[in-house]
Amino acid sequence: MTESPLPWKQAIECEALRGPSSSNLDNLPQAEPISVSSVWQMESPETADAALEGKEGVFVYRRDGHPNERSLARKLAKLNGAATAMVTSQGMSAIAATALALLKPGDHVWVASELYGKSVQLFTKDLARWGIGHQAFDPNDEKQLQRLADSNAKLVFVETLSNPRLRLAELDKLAAAKDAAGSLLVVDNTFATHLICRPLDHGADIVVESLSKQVNGHSDAMLGMVATADAEIGGKIRDTLSTFGMASSPLDCFLTHRGLSTLAVRLERACNNAMELALSLRELPEVQQVDYPGLSEHPQHKACLGQLRGGFGWMLTFQLGTNWEGVHRLFHALSPAIPFLPSLGDVTTSVSHPASTSHRGLTCEGRKALGITDGTIRVSCGIEPKDWLVNQFCAAIQRSAQLK
Ligand SMILES: Cc1ncc(COP(=O)(O)O)c(C=O)c1O
Repeated sequence: MTESPLPWKQAIECEALRGPSSSNLDNLPQAEPISVSSVWQMESPETADAALEGKEGVFVYRRDGHPNERSLARKLAKLNGAATAMVTSQGMSAIAATALALLKPGDHVWVASELYGKSVQLFTKDLARWGIGHQAFDPNDEKQLQRLADSNAKLVFVETLSNPRLRLAELDKLAAAKDAAGSLLVVDNTFATHLICRPLDHGADIVVESLSKQVNGHSDAMLGMVATADAEIGGKIRDTLSTFGMASSPLDCFLTHRGLSTLAVRLERACNNAMELALSLRELPEVQQVDYPGLSEHPQHKACLGQLRGGFGWMLTFQLGTNWEGVHRLFHALSPAIPFLPSLGDVTTSVSHPASTSHRGLTCEGRKALGITDGTIRVSCGIEPKDWLVNQFCAAIQRSAQLK
């Protein structure tokens, strides 16, 4: 294959647009066919053996891979600059399989103190039952990075942009610390996607992502991704996915493959909407703080300019000095135009409430330490016209404040 003359971002956008990458017909269909078979006929024991060893293009049993999974995963590997990628049943199975494949009792994991609530539960509670220790740390504290460099950490887990306060994990610095410790850096890239940041380019060993979010983009499929530059690590994770039964569904792969082809245009619009909304919300007296990487007051705005490309993301978080009742009033005022949706990355803008949904598993003190209060509201921006969107929020915030 010849080198593309396009800058990498344009080249990967074009890659995402192309139709199916392989077919056993004489000419390619433009739309990806959905392959529902759970098992494939084997020509001989040799064929079965080679296929189960990972030979490309031959399938055995859906749990070990299927045509819709392979064509999506092949594309995702290229887009993420990885040697290999796998599509899993959900974002959580991508994270769980990575941990289960690479850790054993007695190992120690360093996990960012601010993460999606289920990831916190996995690393601090569930893996602890398997004898795997953990250390919570702030990826942006130089002293803690030095301690990480001197530690015996087997694996380091962070989110590119954290859920929900949108703190950036500065990956080049983290990669230097994990190299010194001889550990593996796993980055959850759900709040960025490969178009905004490619963690493998910054020294990460493995990138995981919930494809249920922006890559699919329509809240109608659940999938996860694991991608790595190390084929041996990829093989271990693939075995774990099969043993633990974490395979993807063909229909969900089909839908997500379709979502991937419009990701670049959706993302550009959603990032612009998030920037406009962040700028407008910070002018409102009712809003105490806005967390958005594109704002100059974001504590890592400069680092974001260096690490994020093509936008600062579609997620923003703001603080209202109120309790659950005040949040309920606001959500009622926003509805039905802006739904309360405990998810993110849809074409429709939505709001969520971390204290009662994604971070409900943490104690009140645990949430407070992360700056998550009862009045913390997370917004996932969609692709609506920006003036309409800003008006919906400003009017609803003012209306609900008057109802106090
Ligand atoms: C940052 C992050 N990682 C992982 C997940 C889990 O993904 P899934 O819901 O596809 O299991 C989520 C879900 O919200 C998330 O926000």
